[in-house]
Amino acid sequence: MSFTPPSPATIVSPTELPIRQIPGSYGFPLVGPFWDRLDYFWFQKPEKFFRKRMEKHSSSVYRTNVPPSFPFFLNVNPNVIALLDCKSFSHLFDSHIIDKRDVLVGDFVPSIAFTGNLRVGVYQDTTEPQHSKVKSYIMDILKRSSGIWVAELVSNLDRMCDKLEASLSKSTSVSYIFLVQQFLFSFFCKVLAGADPSREPKIAESGYAMLDRWLALQLLPTVSIGILQPLEEILLHSFAYPFFLVSGDYNNVYNFIKQHGKETITLGVTDFGLSEEEAIHNLLFVLGFNSFGGFSIFLPSLIETIASDPTLQEKLKKEARTASSLTFDSIKQMSLVQSVVYEALRMNPPVPLQYGRARRDFRLASHDSVFDVKKGELLCGFQKLVMRDPLIFDQPETFKPDRFVGDKGAHLLDYLYWSNGPQTGSPSLSNKQCAGKDVVTLTASLIVAYLLRRYDSIKGDASSFTLLQRAN
Ligand code: HEM
Repeated sequence: MSFTPPSPATIVSPTELPIRQIPGSYGFPLVGPFWDRLDYFWFQKPEKFFRKRMEKHSSSVYRTNVPPSFPFFLNVNPNVIALLDCKSFSHLFDSHIIDKRDVLVGDFVPSIAFTGNLRVGVYQDTTEPQHSKVKSYIMDILKRSSGIWVAELVSNLDRMCDKLEASLSKSTSVSYIFLVQQFLFSFFCKVLAGADPSREPKIAESGYAMLDRWLALQLLPTVSIGILQPLEEILLHSFAYPFFLVSGDYNNVYNFIKQHGKETITLGVTDFGLSEEEAIHNLLFVLGFNSFGGFSIFLPSLIETIASDPTLQEKLKKEARTASSLTFDSIKQMSLVQSVVYEALRMNPPVPLQYGRARRDFRLASHDSVFDVKKGELLCGFQKLVMRDPLIFDQPETFKPDRFVGDKGAHLLDYLYWSNGPQTGSPSLSNKQCAGKDVVTLTASLIVAYLLRRYDSIKGDASSFTLLQRAN
């Protein structure tokens, strides 16, 4: 049966929909948030947590609590309005009604000690002048580095794959996580900061692990890492760890960027009006948190998708090998490769939660109802369910490699939201869409094409390879 998703215009307009009170409740103070936290991290896990409540309330919009909460997060308000369909979620992109100040990971804000005692641009709302300065700085860096992007990517991939093959020649299975992270660290230092880690052996060897520890301490209260319960709840989700535990790591990477990324830092000062400190901490955040962190989550799931499917590999191989070389232009001709990357982002968005605070009272529409939202309320979209909206995506739970190929596929890109905006949109100073939206999908596509040009057959999962068979 062919499936035609509704266009935004054909989805029933808000005025024709019934007005409904937002279902769900926050429960008793302290106890309600605490039980929701246990469900979220322990008894249900995030996907089931949101799905169960959606079924219970027969609504893709409802009130609930999200972690962190009781006992040592008394200054964090866990109350949110969950948004779980494409239509209600898309309100988060409207900066007239949504304030993005300090809501990157919800009402909880990691200490600014983690970012040099500065509020970096990613935490700033579009109405804050500093947001525009920082975002234009980052977008300018991306533009300037486009000339070296593909060559750096390929040379870093060459190095990583040589190491993987050497290890695999001595063992039947090789864990790739740290090698991938080393590759990502080295690549992003070069293209974003102009800094070459190989000039400092300690950074080249373990810069990625320094960033891992810095990231982990900021995010632990909000993410599940799957250690034995109730240890995880007691040790990792009950309080925030202080910055001093990773200050040595952060300072090492900071000093490396300061010393080897001088040209990029000076650009931030002279062309974008940032102080030297602001330029370095913002650059480091985009490099370490957005780029390195985002790809560290995304690549294993993308690799698993390909490494577990020999039929898909055959199709991708054909397309990837049509081009004489890998360039931004040649990758844009590879529609299946790109579609696989989009579908991987749809099924497993690396940053699954997006938050926004109502700037004023407004009416929010889902596909079937309209709800009154009050100024100051926190909206929380869980993309993993949003991008499985059955009114938009045919067989939403199935990975369809060619979902985004052709005209119909191109139309679906309006609903691909991994970047905090539609894939057909553009990051700008007046929105909060990921500045790296285009380079992320192009880079991931280049990595897929690179692997399928280098190897005839790949076997493995989300953490290790068991076969990398070189192409002749
Ligand atoms: C797989 C990799 C990536 C993913 C999944 C990702 C995802 C996102 C998401 C979801 C947001 C919005 C967060 C929010 O406000 O709620 C965001 C913001 C942002 N991202 Fe990315 N990102 C990735 C890589 C990158 C790269 C490579 C860059 C640049 C080099 C970048 C730069 C930014 C910036 C500057 C913002 C803040 C935008 C603003 O303040 O207006 N990201 N990213």
